[in-house]
Amino acid sequence: MKLTDQQLAEFDELGYLFTPSCFSEAEIQVLRDEAEEIYKSDRKEVWREDTGAPRTAFAAHTYNEAFRLLGSHPRLIDPVSQLFGEQVYMHQYKINAKAPFDGAVWQWHQDYGTWARDDGMPEPRAMNIAVFLDEVMPINGPLMFIPKSHKRGTLDASHDTTTTSYPLWTLDNDTVTELADAGGIIAPTGPAGSVMMFHGNLVHASPPNITPYPRKIVYLTLNAVSNHITKFNREDWIAHRDFTPIDPVSDDALLEYARSHSKAA
Ligand code: SIN
Ligand code: MN
Repeated sequence: MKLTDQQLAEFDELGYLFTPSCFSEAEIQVLRDEAEEIYKSDRKEVWREDTGAPRTAFAAHTYNEAFRLLGSHPRLIDPVSQLFGEQVYMHQYKINAKAPFDGAVWQWHQDYGTWARDDGMPEPRAMNIAVFLDEVMPINGPLMFIPKSHKRGTLDASHDTTTTSYPLWTLDNDTVTELADAGGIIAPTGPAGSVMMFHGNLVHASPPNITPYPRKIVYLTLNAVSNHITKFNREDWIAHRDFTPIDPVSDDALLEYARSHSKAA
């Protein structure tokens, strides 16, 4: 899948590209089921909210075949390689739960702020791709973004280790107010299988989920191989140290896996 000139211009201007229903329900159903199994396990890679509900599962592409296929999927890998003009490797891989009733806030932040400060990533040449595993609605803790904020470089931030179970470099209210006055705030919604690709410096957050509806999202963080990290402060299953370029699988790989592993089969 190649990005058109218009998509490249839109990404440059706004800092994101949203593609509703990029994956079919058949491709997503198997991932949704396997995510729930992963959350039930007591793996060290599964982090929880203070209530015990799952918050995020790291590195599932290293221990689950369906998530490995998603992490090498050409619909995700090819556009990012095209944008960076080189091959990419997986810097981080998360399945964020935002569990019904218990899914807690993610404060306003830029992901590159963490990659630079904690992992010594040289440049913001890594991309986040969010793949919705459930329908994302205005009410179940959607991601919120400030369009065009990626143009502002890496902003001052403080290390928040208290408001949730996940340490994050977060922005202050005055900065967020000023950015929102300039760019507004959007919250892309859509069916499971929708994909949001966003710049490492695009400011984003998400509110708690107090509805009965789940909101699972997988995040691939794809980094240009020449931009690999230089500090190894975090666990290697949080900030990966394997800089091997990803070789994309075939476009129907996930569908084939779903056909042979679906619960209905
Ligand atoms: C993130 O910003 O890294 C995660 C936010 C979310 O899943 O709501
Ligand atoms: Mn983030």
